[in-house]
Amino acid sequence: MRVNKNYASLKNNYLFATISSKVDEFKSSNPDKKLIYMGIGDITRPLCGAVVDELKKAVEDMAGPKTFKGYGPYQGYDFLRNCVCKYYNDHGAKIDPDEVFISDGAKSDCANMLDIFDNNQIILIPDPVYPVYLDTNVMAGNKVIFADATEENNFLPLPKGDLDVDVIYICSPNNPTGAVYDKKQLKLWVDYANEKGAIILFDSAYEAFIDEKTLPRSIFEIQGARTCAIEICSLSKTAGFTGTRCGFTIIPKELKRDGNIVNNMWMRHQTTSFNGVSYIIQRGAAAVFTEIGQKQVGENLLYYKKNAEIISHSMDEMKIWYTGGKNSPYIWLKCPNSMDSWEFFDLLLNDLNIVGTPGSGFGRNGQGFFRLTAFGTHQDTIEAMKRLKSFI
Ligand code: MLT
Repeated sequence: MRVNKNYASLKNNYLFATISSKVDEFKSSNPDKKLIYMGIGDITRPLCGAVVDELKKAVEDMAGPKTFKGYGPYQGYDFLRNCVCKYYNDHGAKIDPDEVFISDGAKSDCANMLDIFDNNQIILIPDPVYPVYLDTNVMAGNKVIFADATEENNFLPLPKGDLDVDVIYICSPNNPTGAVYDKKQLKLWVDYANEKGAIILFDSAYEAFIDEKTLPRSIFEIQGARTCAIEICSLSKTAGFTGTRCGFTIIPKELKRDGNIVNNMWMRHQTTSFNGVSYIIQRGAAAVFTEIGQKQVGENLLYYKKNAEIISHSMDEMKIWYTGGKNSPYIWLKCPNSMDSWEFFDLLLNDLNIVGTPGSGFGRNGQGFFRLTAFGTHQDTIEAMKRLKSFI
C-alpha cells in the first residue's frame, strides 16, 4: 500500500489547526487568562429566529409517519434551490435551479471540485488567500502558480501576461484582505478564462458583507461568466451556519470543457460521493431567504459591521496601516514595529491575550500582515482594542 506522496509537500498542519493548538497550549498553562478570539472567522451571534422556527418545524416533520423524510434529492431540495435562485436573480445574476447544488458549506465543495478536473494542471491562486485552495491542490499534485496580491495592486491582482492556466481561484470579498473586485476587474478575469479555456472557481462566501451597490456579489453578474465560472458560496458567515453547515455551488449548464458538461460531471460526482445535507438543515437554510429571514440575518450582519467599524477606527487612532473592514468582516493590518506575522501573533496571545491570524498563513505576501475578525461580541471587540491601544 502506498500513500499519497503529495502530503509530504504540505505544511505540517492546516493554518487554523496550528493556531488552535497554540491557543490550547496557552490555555493549559494560563487557565485564568481571558482570551479574546479574533482568529478563525467563527460567528458569535446565534441563528436568527426565522431559521430556528423552521428548524423546529422540520424536526416535527421528521417525527410524523406522513411527513418524515429519508434520503433527499442529491442536488438538494427544490424549495431551497428555488430560494437560492431567486436571491441570485434579484441581485442581477441569472441562474437556474438546475444549476444549484446544495452542500454542507463552501470548504468541502472547494476541495472536492478537484476530483472532476484532471491532475497535473496549472492552477492560479491569489497570494494571500484562504489556505484551502493551496492545500487541496498540493494534495492533488497540481502545479500551482500565484497571482501576487500586494499593497501596490490593492490586493486585487489582475490577469497578466500570457500564462496558460487551467483553473483560476478568485475570492471576492477576499479572505483575508477584504479586497473586493469591481465589475470591470472581474470582467477582465472572465474574458481571460474564456480565452484560455480555463475555469474560474469563484468563492463568494463573504458576498453578504458587500454594502456598495455597484460591487458584484456574484461572478454571474458578469457577462461571459456562464461559460467559464463555478461559484461556491456558504451560509456560514451570512447566516451563522458555521456549526449548522449549509452552502451551495452553482455550475451553469453552458460550462463545458473537453466536450463535457461540467454540471453533469458534478452531478455524477455528488450522486456517487454525497448523500446531501439533511432535510432539517435545508429547511432552516430556506428560512434565511424569506423576507423575515433576510431582515433578521441583516441585523446580525450589521452587528458584525459595527465591530469592523470599531476595529477600523482603533487602527486609525493607532496609526496602524490596514485594509478591509468595509464590505468585509476582516481587517487586514500591517504588524506594528515591522514585526513578522507569527511574532505579532505570539505577542498578542501571550501579552494581550488576543487571538488573531498571522498573515503569512495565507501566503508569502501575507508576511508582516495580520488578520482580525469582526465576528466577536461588541464587548470583546471593544476590550481587545483597549488592550491593543494600551500596548501601542
Ligand atoms: C477563516 O477564518 O478564514 C474561515 O472561517 C475558515 C473557514 O471558513 O474554513
